[in-house]
Amino acid sequence: MSFAPAPAPTLALRWEALSLNTLDALLEVEQQAYSHPWSRGNFIDALASGYHCQLLWADNHLLGYTIAMRGVQEAHLLNITVAPTHQGQGWARVLLEHLALWARSEQAQCLWLEVRTSNARALSIYTAHGYQRVGLRKRYYPAADGAREDAIVMQLPLWP
Ligand SMILES: CC(C)(COP(=O)(O)OP(=O)(O)OC[C@H]1O[C@@H](n2cnc3c(N)ncnc32)[C@H](O)[C@@H]1OP(=O)(O)O)[C@@H](O)C(=O)NCCC(=O)NCCS
Repeated sequence: MSFAPAPAPTLALRWEALSLNTLDALLEVEQQAYSHPWSRGNFIDALASGYHCQLLWADNHLLGYTIAMRGVQEAHLLNITVAPTHQGQGWARVLLEHLALWARSEQAQCLWLEVRTSNARALSIYTAHGYQRVGLRKRYYPAADGAREDAIVMQLPLWP
């Protein structure tokens, strides 16, 4: 007797640009995911600045999102978040691939990001995705008890 593999769960996946209508859902995830979350004002500024703000939904569940800024022949990833209840399921890779596709379509030559030195999980995902460590920003992020934490600067070349 042979067994067929279990079918993948059926999810209606969709991408959507951030708007004021979806900001509350995003903020709920943001506050669950970070010790130092972005504020509502940070996201409103991102919208007002025309940043690329993409949400990934499965049915009516917010899986995650990216916020990125266009530069001259480059793009900068400012925020990537997977909802805590959906972490560990490979969604970070989906978000990063979608972001790189968009950046290529914008004729960017590379993508930049910063990551906390303590964020081993994010560092390992970025490295696996092809990002290379190119610098360090001292005391870049707020940390516990008024301290500051360094950021590792990473770059992904988009074209050979
Ligand atoms: C970082 C984040 C986006 C990753 O998303 P995710 O979908 O949960 O990613 P996954 O859990 O699928 O993990 C991806 C990889 O990291 C590895 N990983 C998981 N936990 C790890 C840890 N503690 N240390 C090192 N690697 C780890 C997994 O093994 C997996 O590797 P694989 O694809 O080779 O199997 C998500 O955890 C998150 O939103 N965190 C809070 C916000 C944040 O830190 N954002 C990044 C700011 S720079």
